[in-house]
Parts: sequence; structure tokens; C-alpha cells
Amino acid sequence: MDLYDVIRTRRSVRKYRPDSIPQEVLNRLLDAARIAPSGSNRQPTRLIVVTDPETKQKLVPMCHDQAFVATAPVIVCAVGRDIEYNRGEWMGDCAMIVDVAIAVDHLTLAARAEGLGSCWIGSFSNTALKEFFGLPEDVNVVALTPLGYPEGDPFEEPEGRIPLDEFVMWNGWTG
Ligand SMILES: Cc1cc2nc3c(=O)[nH]c(=O)nc-3n(C[C@H](O)[C@H](O)[C@H](O)COP(=O)(O)O)c2cc1C
Repeated sequence: MDLYDVIRTRRSVRKYRPDSIPQEVLNRLLDAARIAPSGSNRQPTRLIVVTDPETKQKLVPMCHDQAFVATAPVIVCAVGRDIEYNRGEWMGDCAMIVDVAIAVDHLTLAARAEGLGSCWIGSFSNTALKEFFGLPEDVNVVALTPLGYPEGDPFEEPEGRIPLDEFVMWNGWTG
């Protein structure tokens, strides 16, 4: 698929068919996330890939009861190690989150290119997930996403985005 078609038609998918994802397809997605850029190439991101049905079900309450996440054959939990490359200024504290977010975006776009649905899950309990997965103190959850083949065809161009002339400001803040 053309990259712009992938970007334009990636949508949050909340209804999944139970069909499993071929391992080679899943590997391509995970590799697309692996090669994402990160600040100073420090690569703080790790992906916990959950396929076990019981484990998936246990994740639902940790995602504030978003039951649809467990209907997908795979749930990916994206975590990051706080590797303290805070170069000062306010972005320093966000560095790990930015890096993990880029990797998750690679994952969701690669999923779309493979005909798979995803849905960025930002509503979750970091405390509960940390305990459940036994994450080290300096590792925290940034996002989860279910992955699977969607029910129907949700891959439409998005509605409700602000227009380009509102989004882009040329040569300074004009908002
Ligand atoms: C940081 C972030 C957190 C989100 N958290 C959730 C979530 O917890 N549950 C959910 O169903 N969708 C969640 N979404 C999906 C958004 O609602 C969705 O991306 C947005 O409405 C635009 O729709 P689209 O993805 O279909 O283009 C999240 C998206 C982002 C980027």
C-alpha cells in the first residue's frame, strides 16, 4: 500500500474477528516498531506481546474495563525504561514517552498496511500493569493496542480532524 493511503485509512478498530495473525505478519509489525527512531538511539522501548486468552482477559480491568481489547487475538503492551537522558528543559521528562509513542505509531501503521486493525489504548492503570507483568521500578507502560483482523471494513478516511489551515501556522504562532 502507498504510505499516504496507510496513514489516511488507519483507524481505531474496536471490533475484531477471532482469526489469528500469521506469525510472519506479526513479526513484520514488531520489527517495524523495533526500527523506530529514538533520542540518541537509546531505544528504551520494549513490547510485551500477549496471545494467551486468559492473560488477555486479565488485562481488561487494567484497561479500565475496555472489554474489546481482549477480543483481538493479540494485545501489545508498549513499555519504556526511564533511561534518564534528560537533557534539561521540559522535554527531558517526556523523552521516554516520546520514543515509545513513535514505536507504537510504527506498529499501528504497519498493522494497517497488513490489513490489521489496532487501537491505541491510553486509558489504563500503570500501577496494575506494572505489578501484573512484574516490570522493574524504572519501566512504565506508555500504551497498549489490540491487534487483529477487523470486523467489516473500518478503514475509512477520518472525519472530525481540524482543517490544514488551522493545523499549520506559517512563520509563527497565528492561532
Ligand atoms: C494517546 C491516545 C490514547 C487513546 N486512548 C484510547 C483508549 O483508551 N480507548 C480507546 O478506545 N481509544 C483510545 N484512543 C483512540 C482515539 O480515540 C482515536 O485515535 C481518535 O478518536 C481518532 O480516531 P481514529 O484513530 O479512528 O482516527 C487513544 C488514542 C491516542 C492517540
